[in-house]
This record gives sequence, structure tokens and C-alpha cells, in this order.
Amino acid sequence: MPALVLLGAQWGDEGKGKATDLLGGSVDYVVRYQGGNNAGHTVVVGDQKYALHLLPSGILSPECTPVIGNGVVVDPSVLFSELNGLNERGVDTSKLLISGNAHIITPYNVTVDKVTERFLGKRKIGTTGRGIGPTYADKINRVGIRIQDLYDESILTQKVEAALDGKNQLLTKVFNRRAIEVGKVVEELLSYADRLKPYVADTVLVLNRALEDDKVVLFEGGQGTLLDIDHGTYPFVTSSNPTAGGACTGAGVGPTKISRVIGILKAYTTRVGSGPFPTELFDEDGEALRRIGGERGVTTGRDRRCGWFDAVIARYATRVNGLTDFFLTKLDVLTGWEQIPVCVAYEIDGKRVEELPYSQSDFHHAKPVYETLPGWSEDITSAKSFSDLPKNAQNYVKALEEMSGAPISAIGVGPGRDETIEINSFL
Ligand code: IMP
Repeated sequence: MPALVLLGAQWGDEGKGKATDLLGGSVDYVVRYQGGNNAGHTVVVGDQKYALHLLPSGILSPECTPVIGNGVVVDPSVLFSELNGLNERGVDTSKLLISGNAHIITPYNVTVDKVTERFLGKRKIGTTGRGIGPTYADKINRVGIRIQDLYDESILTQKVEAALDGKNQLLTKVFNRRAIEVGKVVEELLSYADRLKPYVADTVLVLNRALEDDKVVLFEGGQGTLLDIDHGTYPFVTSSNPTAGGACTGAGVGPTKISRVIGILKAYTTRVGSGPFPTELFDEDGEALRRIGGERGVTTGRDRRCGWFDAVIARYATRVNGLTDFFLTKLDVLTGWEQIPVCVAYEIDGKRVEELPYSQSDFHHAKPVYETLPGWSEDITSAKSFSDLPKNAQNYVKALEEMSGAPISAIGVGPGRDETIEINSFL
């Protein structure tokens, strides 16, 4: 019953694709359990590079069944364009399964996302503008549209009416926009129904049966721990639960079924969008991390904010996810620094604090307390085992492991698929 959860331990963009590559052909099901097309990861197969936003990475392995769970929000037009793009390149996408309970990102959810951000001005969240937050808001307000609603026109019309009643008041009276017509929305949504139909399934049943049959199921989190709606840097977060518990609710699998929780941890820290980030660098080092690490968003093309490794955050990720392992990525990006600062604690109002403060105001005031570790200058991209790494790189990894509270079971030492050191197998 190997059920693994793979999730970002920081603010997303830790390089999950690497871990999926490592698991390779041994996975039977890859499941997305939250988020939508706000995620983005690049997967390299042979000499082909694929940028995926909504589809689980398993879509590229012929032997694997990719699943979009009930906790995901789906923009059908984005789904189809991603599927078309893959089909044009000869990828068979027919095994995809989508939960009938997954919510649909409607055109009005995208409109509301954009106008709300504009309205917030300098207080904006810095969302990806894909309608994610408003779609989850509709879900919680019980006026969401689910995939299964596309197969009952009368129910769909009633639900769109209910959703638009309040929104049109808001759009016309507060945001000074035109009202959205129910009929047009229903027509657009119905146009997706036939093409979606073959993929729609009772994914909860499928996944639980697969686990009973001892299949390997990989739950792939989008975004990262600090962007979690409950456990992240609220309100500068996404609107779902990328943390490990989200895999249970977002896929309908009980916590007793999860055998391993792997946190993807970048050897330094990045974040996109607004919100606090204690180790953020505004100097040449930050610029160098961005340049060498290629820190630009796959989904939005925005430059990522960059900073040194933050062990307080890593410890927090271990705790809230119950991490069993870390996959440390992008260690090669740090090659060439003589000294590498690592944040080991924070100073808040003159006091040293070892753990992430629960108070948002305290976190905003947190100043990093750094320890400096000696760097290395040797190229590490061809290292195949831990002992191939220069002593200082080994010590850097060991120090991070000790501070972060879970074993580092794999290390990414270069962008290539095989540029990974495996220490403990994930299966
Ligand atoms: P939303 O998910 O579009 O609502 O955006 C909310 C916050 O999450 C913003 O700060 C986004 O930049 C951030 N975010 C959303 N998806 C990702 C991701 O895949 N990687 C990193 N940040 C993300």
C-alpha cells in the first residue's frame, strides 16, 4: 500500500519535477489533490521539455494513470489546451481521470480574481489571476459549480444563477463592471461537457481500490507549505491545502493509508507574489541566486524573490506535514559562494525565536539570525553519490538535515533528469 505524498516545503517552486523523475516508472497513479492551473512545473522527458500547470506529471508516463482529485479546481479551457498541446506532441492522454466532485473555474471566477486584485491595490495578494481563490470561495459558500453539474442542464442553470446573483451586484455596483449573463456562462460550460465525459470518474473509489491492490500512488501537491490557506503566511497564500492533510481530503483517501510524506526543499529560498519572507535578499547575492537558479515562474513568468535557506521554515514544514523525508533540490546553484549564510532562528523584538511564530505581526518583524557555513567551488553536477560531493557541500547538507528535522533522502545537483543523488529510496 505505498501511498506517497510529495509536496513543497517552502513557498512552492522547489522543483518537484525532479522527485517525480526519480520515482520514474514505478508509480501507478499520480494524483493532484488541490490547487489548479496556478501551479506550474517543468518535466523533462528525453530531449523534450513540458510545462504543466494543471495536469499531474504522471500524464507523461504511459504506464501511469494521472488523476485530478476532488480537491482540485479545474478550468476546462486550460485543461483542453494542455491536453491538445500534449496530443500534438504524441503523448497519449486517454488514461486521465477527473473527479466529478472537482469544482470548475468559471469565467466569472477569473474576472472576480482580477478585479479584486486591482481593487486591493498595494494590498494585493499577487495572485496568479487564474480564478483560483474565487472558485474556492464559491465552493465554501456552497455556490460552486462541479464537473458533475455539466451533465444536468437544469441544475447547472440554477447553480450559475445562484452564483451570479450576488456577484453581478458586486461587479456592477462595486467594481463598475458589466453584469455577466447566466445564459452565456451556461452555454460555455455545456460546450465542455462531451469532451470531459470520458475522463470523469469516481476517483475516490478508483484510488482506494488501487491502494487495496498494492499499487503505488503518488499524491502531488501544488504550491508549497507556506502557501497553505491554514498553515501558510495568511493572507498571502493560495486558497487550498497543499500540506499533507490536503492529500486526504482532496483525494478521499484516509490518513492511515499514507506511508511516506516527502518535502521538496530548495537549498535556498524563493517566493513569488506578496507577503513576508525573512531571508529575502535585495543585493547581488539575491540577483545571483535568481540568475543561476533560473528563478522565474513557469506559470506567470514573474521573477521569483530569492534568499538564503531558512531552517525555521524547514522545521515548520516537517512538523505540519509530518515529513518522513526531504528531497533537497538545486544544491548546485550554491556552488561558488565562499561562505553560505543559513537562517537558524529569528530575532523578533530583540528576542531569539527558534520556531515560526504563529502571530502574523511577529512573522512580519522576524529578522533572520544567520550562521555561516563554508562553501565549495568544485562542480558538483556529475556527483552520483553523497561521498562524491566536496566535503563542504556534504557538511552543508548535513547541517540542513540536522536543523530541518527529517532525513534528506535525495539531492538535486543539476537540472538534468539524472543529476540526482539518491541516498534512501522513496519506495
Ligand atoms: P493564487 O493561488 O493564484 O490565488 O495566488 C496566491 C499566492 O500563491 C500568490 O502569492 C501566488 O504567487 C502564489 N502561488 C500560486 N501558485 C504558485 C506556485 O505554483 N508556485 C509559487 N507560488 C504560487
